[in-house]
Amino acid sequence: MEATYEPKIVALVCNWCTYTGADLAGTSRTQYASNVRIIKLPCTGRISPMFVLRALAQGADGVLVSGCHPGDCHYTAGNYHARRKFTVLRELLLFLGIEPERVQFSWVSAAEGKKWADVVNAVVADVRKLGPRKAAWGEPVGTAQPVVLGGSLPDGSDRTDQSDSAQARALRAKARELLESGAVNVVVGYQAGSLPGLMRAVFVTDPARVDQLEWNADCRQNLSVYLTRDAVKKLGKIGLVVKACDVKSVVGLIQENQVAREDVVLIGMACRGVQVDGAPAARCAACDGKGLELADHVIGEGAPEPMADPRLEEIARLDAMSPEERWNFWQAQFAQCLRCYACRAACPMCACDRCLAEKTQPAWIPGTIDGRGNLTWHAARALHLAGRCVDCGACIAACPANIRLDLLNLKMAMVVRDRFGYVPGLDPEATPALASFHETDAQEFIR
Ligand code: FES
Repeated sequence: MEATYEPKIVALVCNWCTYTGADLAGTSRTQYASNVRIIKLPCTGRISPMFVLRALAQGADGVLVSGCHPGDCHYTAGNYHARRKFTVLRELLLFLGIEPERVQFSWVSAAEGKKWADVVNAVVADVRKLGPRKAAWGEPVGTAQPVVLGGSLPDGSDRTDQSDSAQARALRAKARELLESGAVNVVVGYQAGSLPGLMRAVFVTDPARVDQLEWNADCRQNLSVYLTRDAVKKLGKIGLVVKACDVKSVVGLIQENQVAREDVVLIGMACRGVQVDGAPAARCAACDGKGLELADHVIGEGAPEPMADPRLEEIARLDAMSPEERWNFWQAQFAQCLRCYACRAACPMCACDRCLAEKTQPAWIPGTIDGRGNLTWHAARALHLAGRCVDCGACIAACPANIRLDLLNLKMAMVVRDRFGYVPGLDPEATPALASFHETDAQEFIR
């Protein structure tokens, strides 16, 4: 006899409303599908999106997240904060090719036993229709062609010809002045690397050695990553060579109290775009040079004329795909991942003392280099960077596998901008989108 497929649904629910509502359904003898495994938490504000990723990675076919109605949270605003996290999580899962019916959200009060039963029945029916979750959650099954990084800017022009030795000379002069005057103890800048087209960081503490500093279109790394390193902090006040995009990550670090503005002197470089493998970086097309006005010193002149970002077309193409096609695209991308964590090492916003990926009890992110581990890692990282990533390109410049992390992070930035009207890296005083909420935030996806 053929076994009937019964989906396994994990329900993450708040103790005060939904759990009590589920209890009411039970004591009222209301019948509903027995597929849910309920996990009770103090509040939806305590439900990390990681719980959902972990449930899926552990074998759940679907996840239901439920809590108190807006305005009813027993901790005042836990569900408002949660709503923003869920919004981002849902958009991420959709972008990765997970069907929207597989992860659902609801508000169920303590008095709504009947609603709880209806929601569970509906979720179970939806997931049953979909069938078991994607084969082994992240097995590489993709056939999509990876998209080549770099490429031509929209008008075919090359804005990366900035081998302006006058600008490099001016940088060295400024560095010497700052070091000699004692305004900074160290200048963190770029130095020619061991291979053509490769630059590396240099830490200049001696004014006589400023000639080590270089500036050209290969200066892709975001040096603000060093601002949070203890070994660099110990050197004293830092003079940091930054591009406009890098300034935005410094703003983010200030917002998150990782860096004090008075501890860093920003040496802004007027930049006309960096290059990747000899071609202009796609992300630089839309750059308008904004951010440089927050620098303490600006070397060079002129801002680029912003053009259309060619990656928007790529994102539109992905959005237009079926969930299956998007899933295949990202599986093909993540199958390349070596879990070298170069993306994390290069990212200024990955400033945690201990990354989630290193935590083993529980192992939120499987350490294995396989579909499950790689997908969970990249999904978790995209969630952590949502509303924080400033599109500096450091991660894709560092990734040896050329994974399109820029598309993932850009999509999340678009979600945060469109849903919450927030663009990171512009205002050191602003509260980040995912640390705040508005009572009228859209919630059309919540039952
Ligand atoms: Fe229920 Fe906060 S107490 S959502």
